[in-house]
Formats: sequence, C-alpha cells, structure tokens
Amino acid sequence: METAKQRSPVSAERRGQDLYRLAKSLIPGGTQLLSKRPELFAPNQWPPYYSQCRGCEIVDSDGRRYVDMSIMGIGSCLLGYNDPDVTAAVVRRVQNGSMCTLNNPEEVELARLLIELHPWAENVRYARTGGEAMAVAVRIARARTGRDTIAFCGYHGWHDWYLAANRPAGGQADQLDGHLLPGLAPNGVPSQLTGTALPFGYNQLDQLAAIIDGHGSELAAVVMEPTRRVDPQSGFLEGVRELCDRAGAVLVFDEITVGWRLALGGVHMRYGVEPDIAVFAKAISNGHPMAAIIGRSNVMQAAQDSFISSTYWTEGVGPTAALATIRKMQQIDVPAHVAAIGTRLRAGLEEIAHKYGVPLALAGHPAVTTIAFDHPENLALQTLFTVRMLGRGILTGVGFYASLAHTEEHVDAYLAAADEIFDELAEAVRQGDVAGRIGGPVRHSGFARLA
Ligand SMILES: Cc1ncc(COP(=O)(O)O)c(C=O)c1O
Repeated sequence: METAKQRSPVSAERRGQDLYRLAKSLIPGGTQLLSKRPELFAPNQWPPYYSQCRGCEIVDSDGRRYVDMSIMGIGSCLLGYNDPDVTAAVVRRVQNGSMCTLNNPEEVELARLLIELHPWAENVRYARTGGEAMAVAVRIARARTGRDTIAFCGYHGWHDWYLAANRPAGGQADQLDGHLLPGLAPNGVPSQLTGTALPFGYNQLDQLAAIIDGHGSELAAVVMEPTRRVDPQSGFLEGVRELCDRAGAVLVFDEITVGWRLALGGVHMRYGVEPDIAVFAKAISNGHPMAAIIGRSNVMQAAQDSFISSTYWTEGVGPTAALATIRKMQQIDVPAHVAAIGTRLRAGLEEIAHKYGVPLALAGHPAVTTIAFDHPENLALQTLFTVRMLGRGILTGVGFYASLAHTEEHVDAYLAAADEIFDELAEAVRQGDVAGRIGGPVRHSGFARLA
C-alpha cells in the first residue's frame, strides 16, 4: 500500500466527512448498508470512506491509516482484506473477461466443491448477496410446498418476505426487535403479507412448536441461523429438524454470517444437524459479491418451476473468488485462528475492565464478539471508546469480527490502547460526563432516519 500521510488531528482533514454530508443529500440513508453508517460508530468522527485496504489495515480517503479491529467489512473478509490469493484469481478472471454471452465454468466447479463439502446436498443455485439468496431460498421452499407461511428466528436481510413480520398483525409492529436488528420499518411492504412471517426465539423450541400447532399445514419453511451468539441447547436443533419433518416444512439454515467462520463449510456441520437448504454469502468469497443456495434435490428442483433469474448472477468474479477463498480455507484452519484471536481479545479486555471497574459486557462467539457496557450510558461509553481508539489509529465499534489477517500483535496493540482508554472510561463514569468527552454526538443504536 502507499505510505499513508502522517496522522493528523481528527479535526484537521475532514474531506471524508464533507463527502459523507454530500452523500446524505444525494443518497437517502447515506450508505447502502445500515451497518456501515458512521452514525453507528461515532457521528461526525468515524471515517466514512477508504482508499485502500489490505490484511486488517485501511487507509481512509483522507490518507489516515487504521488497523481494523471492528466489523471487517461486516464479516465479508474472513481471510482479511484484499487477500493476495483471492485477488490474484479475481484479477486473472477480470483480465480474461468476467462477463459475456456464455456462462462461466467456475460456477460448475464451485457447485461440485460445495456438494463435496456438504454430502447431504445435491443441488446449488447462486445469487450475489445474502439477503437476495435468502429470498431465493424462501421462494424455493414456498414453490416446493405450495404454502406461504415462514417461521423464522434471527436476521435474514431486507426483503419483503422477512420485513412482513413487522407489518402489524393486531397492532404488533415490533416483532423483529428481538432478532438482531431492532426498529426495522416495514413501510413499502404490502400489508397483504401480514401474518406470513412468524418469529420464534433461539433455543425456544416451544415457541416453534406453538407456531406449528397453529399454522403447521400452511408452513413452507423454518428459517434460522444454526447459531448467532450462543450455542444451541442440547436437542434444540434436532427438535427443529423433527418439527419441520412432522409439518412437511423446509428447514433453511442461514450460514451467511456464521458459515466458514465457526467451521469450514457451515456451523451446522459442527452441530451435526442437516437442513434441507443452506445459504452462504459474505465470507464465502472474501469481499467479492457471491452467494450460494445449496440443498437437497427434492427441494431445490422446485427452482425449475418458479422464475428465479438475474443477469449478474452469471458473472465470473463471484464464483472465481469463492473457489479461491474456499480452497485457501481448506488449507488453513481459519475457524481455529479466529477463535484464538477472539479469545485473546476478550480475555484481555475483561482483565482491563476488571482492573478499572468498567462494566464491560461481551457477548457472542469469540470469533464474532459484541462489545457493550452494562450501564445506562452504554451508547455514550461505546462512542467514547470508539473515538479514543480512532485517535490511536484503531477502528473499533460494538463488534469485533476476527479474521485470518489479525495477529496476536494486533490484539496486544489494541489491548494496550484499551488499557489507557478504560482508565478514562472509569473516570468519566465517576464524573458523570461520558457524553461530554466524546466531542460529537453519541452513536445511533440501530435503524433511524438520518437528518
Ligand atoms: C444471518 C444473516 N442473514 C442475511 C444477511 C443479509 O446479507 P446481505 O447483507 O449480504 O444482504 C445477513 C447480513 O448481515 C446476516 O447476518
């Protein structure tokens, strides 16, 4: 990467902030992904744009260099940014042409590789993003069963089938609030979809059983992540599998975030429960758009009886990147590395929090840790932590996605910085002036209209 400019005080170079202000006047919501809004980290201070990235280092659009100890492209770059092997494969594909009238052979090679890794699956379809791949899976399940209703747990994207859960049935417009992202507005989703997406809680088999009692004969699919923050309780996933079989519903595992990260292939392989469909995106192709819907033939063949088709699902970069990424992950135990990195970071942070009496609250699997404070001023404390880390050249937010590019040295440098900052956080709590130290507004906690 080019040499970054000498670090300048956060306020000196603000072209990125100016550009983001312009963006908000041109692009409703500012960014294309809620999780990349600077307002979710530190409004007016978090660098909105980058010029280069490699490994876990980013040079922002104002030339400042950072180590990314935050969301790593929201989990898309498990091998690290701009991985040399993936980049080389993609560049070769681009130089040979990545789009034309004919199909790319890599998509067949990738299908073979995915089926080899998942012996329970026989067929594969592709998309390019997680949410659309989930919409494909739901469409296939509905086509297969001839039914409409979906029982789900967790977050699965922005599409109508999912947001329909927040369409008030009997006035309840907050059914998604317990499912990762609170406050998702369903405006624009047809009210006719009310009642077609029914949520249940993770590890709450009785809630799914109640849905099946009431709607079993209308149930097309049960859609869930095999895990998000905690492991399944003994018998939970097996119970879900059994309830699906009894109701004749398709079991869809969403491996978009946890897949490859917690186990090569999907985390369902670790838990020993096989779905009818599994969906992969994000880390499957390390930063290049790609998504795969894999499944049992008797379910997937329903894709032939429903129109599911898109031009850019045929381009060649996605499958090429996925092949290079998966082959690299077959050579290196990435789940073991990211678990070790996440465990080191958590142990260090907990020790520092204990030392200064800061009410730290970590959650999630070590490879995907969420960072909060068990305090009424949680949002202000999170923002102050982020702002002070920015001043030390480290990106940190409310989540840490470990990657293959993170080393023990990165973690130790992060912990050395956290040691200084937690001393101040404790002092700020004692003085009652956390928000006053931030130098800007407190971070937003979720989906909100931007001014
Ligand atoms: C479990 C899960 N499903 C679906 C999605 C949506 O994927 P995408 O943002 O690529 O549309 C996400 C994104 O965070 C996710 O975590």
